[in-house]
Amino acid sequence: MNTPRSKPLPGNLVNLADHEAHARRRLDDNAWAYFNGAAADGLTLRANRTAWDELTLVPRVLGTMAGGHTGIELLGHQLHHPVMVAPMAYQRMAHPDGEIATALAAGAQGAGLVVSTQASARLEDIARAFVTLPPASPLWFQLYLQPDREVTLSLVTRAEAAGFNALVLTVDAPVTGVRDAERRAAFRLPTGITAVNLPSSRPGRDGHGLAGGLAQSTATWADVEWLISTSRLPVILKGLLHPLDAKLALSLGVSAVIVSNHGGRTLDTAIATATALPRIADAVGDSLPLLVDGGIRRGTDVLKALALGARAVLVGRPIIWGLANAGAVGVAHVLRLLIDELEMAMVLCGEPSLAKLRPDLIDRIGTSNRSR
Ligand code: FNR
Ligand code: LAC
Repeated sequence: MNTPRSKPLPGNLVNLADHEAHARRRLDDNAWAYFNGAAADGLTLRANRTAWDELTLVPRVLGTMAGGHTGIELLGHQLHHPVMVAPMAYQRMAHPDGEIATALAAGAQGAGLVVSTQASARLEDIARAFVTLPPASPLWFQLYLQPDREVTLSLVTRAEAAGFNALVLTVDAPVTGVRDAERRAAFRLPTGITAVNLPSSRPGRDGHGLAGGLAQSTATWADVEWLISTSRLPVILKGLLHPLDAKLALSLGVSAVIVSNHGGRTLDTAIATATALPRIADAVGDSLPLLVDGGIRRGTDVLKALALGARAVLVGRPIIWGLANAGAVGVAHVLRLLIDELEMAMVLCGEPSLAKLRPDLIDRIGTSNRSR
């Protein structure tokens, strides 16, 4: 790796918000508009955060914590803990080591990794960098359906050959969304940073002025069935918010669903994921493993997500902050902070295990009569 000598991580970064403030000073306006931006007025971006904050915990005390652990089971795999890295495009814009650094850090921290179709490093190289201690953490490939089915197929074949364990089809971004921050900053990908896993004739999904091309590649439920029949890997859908879509996904044989609004980057005013999650959990019960992302910034957010029916969570922007701050070390630090906070929250809530969290762990500000 071509790691530039960088300043050590300052000792006063004690949580993910500290990483954000530090990263703001290290990234230029162009990169910041892309990485931290959201759709339109940023209402969903903020709602994601507020919705986790408004859930309050009702802890139990004096229970035994002996043998406690953060392990969970997901799609037949044992995970060290329920924190995964969300798929994010163009990570070399945050740090020269980009996705390779993220993969090293995720592996070292036992976190699952989801690699974007628009990664700025080759998916085979990312897979090689993802070295984990047993039990191996999940390595998933996020797929954007390409206008040309042959291109989609070759991505799927490469992902299978490189050792990815599942395909994550993202379905909430048929178009890029109204990215005011990016347009204001006249966002451009820096020279040399591209979606290297896509054919060079295709500009990928940076999506500026590409509405025609993007609309052509909009996936439908028929494509989901096609993908399931085509690949030997489990197919996971990312970007569901409606309980009826989750039921459809279940009926078609989808292996898991990620409840997500793309971190508020696509449809502004879309429902916060902490609000959507329990409704989807009610609709599909235990028959479909659920994951959730959007605004997860504290160990208590992770605990709340699991209590509301998620098996695991994905973390987006904080990974970019850590990457910008100190490459692999920064990403590892962000993950470590979150997992340590989760452990602390479990002990303080009297929960030695994540397998069966009590629904009465959660209350909602002002709506206690409606809590699960
Ligand atoms: C994303 N996200 C995303 N999702 C996806 O399926 N494919 C992708 O290529 C990208 N790219 C991407 C880039 C950047 C810079 C961000 C911030 C996000 C969405 C991502 O996977 C996830 O859903 C959200 O980021 C989760 O919200 P938080 O944790 O960022 O609030
Ligand atoms: C984004 C696309 C790449 O959110 O999913 O920027």
